[in-house]
Order: sequence, then C-alpha cells, then structure tokens
Amino acid sequence: MKSFLEWEMSLSEKIEDVNRRLQVSIYTEEEALFSMAKYTLEAGGKRFRPLLIIIAYSIASGKDYKDILDLAAGYELIHTASLIHDDIIDKSELRRGRETLHVKEGVDNAIVVGDYLFAKAYELGSRYGAAVSKIMADASSRLAEGQILEAKNLGNLELTEETYLKIISKKTAFFFAACAEGAAVAANCNALLRKSLTDFAFNLGMAFQVTDDILDIVGSEEKMGKPVLVDIKHSAITLPIIYALRNSDEKNRIALEESLQGKDHGDDFDLKSYFLKTGSIDYSFKMARSYIERAMEALKKTGTSPDINLLMELALIVIERIEELA
Ligand code: IPE
Ligand code: IPE
Ligand code: MG
Ligand code: MG
Repeated sequence: MKSFLEWEMSLSEKIEDVNRRLQVSIYTEEEALFSMAKYTLEAGGKRFRPLLIIIAYSIASGKDYKDILDLAAGYELIHTASLIHDDIIDKSELRRGRETLHVKEGVDNAIVVGDYLFAKAYELGSRYGAAVSKIMADASSRLAEGQILEAKNLGNLELTEETYLKIISKKTAFFFAACAEGAAVAANCNALLRKSLTDFAFNLGMAFQVTDDILDIVGSEEKMGKPVLVDIKHSAITLPIIYALRNSDEKNRIALEESLQGKDHGDDFDLKSYFLKTGSIDYSFKMARSYIERAMEALKKTGTSPDINLLMELALIVIERIEELA
C-alpha cells in the first residue's frame, strides 16, 4: 500500500507541469495581484483535483495529458479561490502551512484575489468548449450552495446526517465529480465511461470531506498545514459531531454543546479523547470507507489499466491518510 507521499512522488512530473501552468495562467500586469495570487497557490496543496483530471483524461482518451493541463489548472484555481474565501468565513489563520491570505493581506484583498482566480479558471475552462465550461460553472454554483447551506446550519444541534451529507456533496463531492466529468467530456469518451468516472469521483469526494471532518478532530496541525478543531470553534456541525451529540451522556453532551458555542474548557474537556470514546471517529471512518467502496465499484466498471490502478490507489490513500496525519 502506497503512502500519499509515495503516490505523489510517482506523479511528480505531472505536478510540476500543473504548477507551471498555474503560474502562467495567473499572470497579470498588476504586480500586487500576481504576487498575492501566487502566495496561496505556491504554498503547495496536494493537487488532488488536477491529478484526478489528468488521470481521468488519460483513461478516457488514451491521449497525452498535456492536452488537459489548462483544465487541470482551472479546477485547481477554483479550488484555491474557494479556500481563500472559506478561510475568511471560517476565520482560519493557517493554510497550506502558511498564514492565510486574509490575515497576511487583509480581507478586502483576499476577496479580490479569490474573485480573480475564479475568473482565470473560467477562462482556462472555456478553451475546452461550452459543455466543459458548463460543467465547471455548475460545480462552482454547487460549491456556493454547499457553503451557504453549511452557513445556514452553523450551530444547528438538530442537524441530521442527511442534511450534513447534502452539504458535503454540494461543497466537495460534486466538485470532484465535475473534475472527472470535465475530463471525460474533453476526451469525448462514451457515456458509460463518463458516468463511471464521474461516479467514482463523486464518491471519492464524499469520502474526502468526511475524512477532512475527522481530521479536524484527530489530525495534526503541523502535518496538515492547517489548524484543527476549526469546525467546533466555528460551530460547523460535521458527521463526528452529529454522532457525538447523539451518543453522549448528558454531562458530556452539554460540554460539547458549550464548546460549539465557543466555550474553552481547557484541560477539563479533552475534545479529541472524548470524540474517540464516543465511537464517533469509528462511525465516521466507516462512512468514509463505504464511500470509497462505492467509488471502487464505479471504477471497476471501467476495466483495468495502469491509470485505473492509480485512481484505485488514490481512493485507498484518501482514507488511509487519517493514520498518516493523526
Ligand atoms: C481542502 O481541500 C478542502 C476540502 C475539501 C476538505 P484539500 O485538502 O485538497 O486542500 P489542499 O489543496 O491540499 O490544500
Ligand atoms: C471545505 O470545507 C471548504 C470548501 C469546499 C471550499 P472545510 O472548511 O472543512 O475545508 P478546510 O478544512 O478549511 O480545508
Ligand atoms: Mg474551512
Ligand atoms: Mg475542514
């Protein structure tokens, strides 16, 4: 079983190509805008979405991945823009191991940089025609819907699993799906293959966000390059929180509710061990794993090839990451 780092290393040439394309695509004569846009992009990031696009395109077309680099870069720009805006919303101070852009340059600038990256992304997407552009635009609309639905439910202790899943499907999974679908449409592949790749990516995205929500509790800030316990501080009710709220004795449930309302219990209430004890991490992990199983099922329909294996590995890495990052 490959670690994420090993998997990424085997794709380093492609990542370099994506990074070069990103650099070129965000150039503007306004130096301040260019350097602020570079700041968050160059901090790294796993480049999951561009890699998903590159591999999906290879599977769907059999052609050289260089043809799809603009689309891969475009999706990474939207993703990065959404993170810049998300960090303002979440009041988060660390991203990709660096101070967040709004902390460094102010909220006003961070909003503009995010908008700029969105605009550049659509320009890149438009090079693949109207159908691909529409998939990209729909993905952004869904992301906005997901963020608003999440905002509407901040602090909602009655949030159901069903609504939680709707939120994460909109803010994350449909975006993954749109990466694969955009690549499949650009490759002009058959409808069956397009559907299998899209289903794979959607389920991967669901598992990815559930995992991220677990890592918000059990992850290490240093290894992830972003702060932990942000969801609790921000009253965002995620799957482990929903489960813990339903499966705690009264004393602990009240302590958790207070934490969600911003109370700091210090050493009196160790959130991480509390969550582990309730079984909420196990429960959420099982949910992530079931999405990965669905992703694998969809992918199996596409046959076998080295590229399909790469996606299989990626799917396993998404859930194995929990142990690496805890
Ligand atoms: C973070 O995405 C936002 C989520 C959907 C959880 P990533 O974990 O892919 O962030 P980067 O791109 O590696 O920084
Ligand atoms: C993902 O949610 C945000 C977007 C899809 C824009 P999170 O708020 O959990 O992402 P992180 O944890 O800040 O990376
Ligand atoms: Mg966030
Ligand atoms: Mg998170």
